[in-house]
Amino acid sequence: MKLMANIPVLTIDGPSGSGKGTIAQLMAKDLGWHYLDSGAIYRVLAQAALKHGVDFADERAVAELAENLDVVFSIQQNDIQVLLEGEDVSTLIRSELAGNAASKVAALPLVRAALLQRQRDFKQLPGLVTDGRDMGTVVFPDASFKVFLNASAQVRAQRRHKQLKEKGIESNLSDLVAEISERDERDSNRTVAPLRPADDALQLDSTSLGIDAVFKQVSALCAG
Ligand code: DC
Repeated sequence: MKLMANIPVLTIDGPSGSGKGTIAQLMAKDLGWHYLDSGAIYRVLAQAALKHGVDFADERAVAELAENLDVVFSIQQNDIQVLLEGEDVSTLIRSELAGNAASKVAALPLVRAALLQRQRDFKQLPGLVTDGRDMGTVVFPDASFKVFLNASAQVRAQRRHKQLKEKGIESNLSDLVAEISERDERDSNRTVAPLRPADDALQLDSTSLGIDAVFKQVSALCAG
């Protein structure tokens, strides 16, 4: 138990589109630590519920699914491959629809309780970088380094719009702003583990900061 406590953890929380995933992956690579994308677990769970016809309103059934979720993350040529029951769902879980579905199952208290230990198990030597909404507040409250990364909804929607365009997917910017705001609202106002900065988190706003500048500040935090 004592040894476990000495494993360093860097938590990066924030809303979608704040750049937390990009920064978390860069930091994990730079530090040579493990990486946990907690949002992907909720995304996969929502996908599993859809696959097995489990109603999102049936909290017990979704929690049972969470308890037995057969998900495997593996690094494949710098990309993270996500397997649900052996099926590659890496691309499927990245859509706006999947993000919204994830936000709905993530609001269920029994589901969050069922996934707690699974997330904590990612804490392994030499260290862990993790991103999500409640990493610094609930899952790893004793983390060595905590960051909360934010950006305006408008800028986050613009980034998402650009990403989708690069993938050849057309999207409407004002729809994206509305979707992002709706998701923030649900994630911030739920009863358990709402999106909020930990009291001891370094708060950064990436609205007008580039990835390099954010990376520098997070690196300085971990070095100091
Ligand atoms: O980070 P993301 O966009 O992949 O997350 C998808 C949804 O999952 C997000 O809208 C809320 C939920 N989530 C959560 O409740 N807690 C986390 N630690 C990570 C994600």
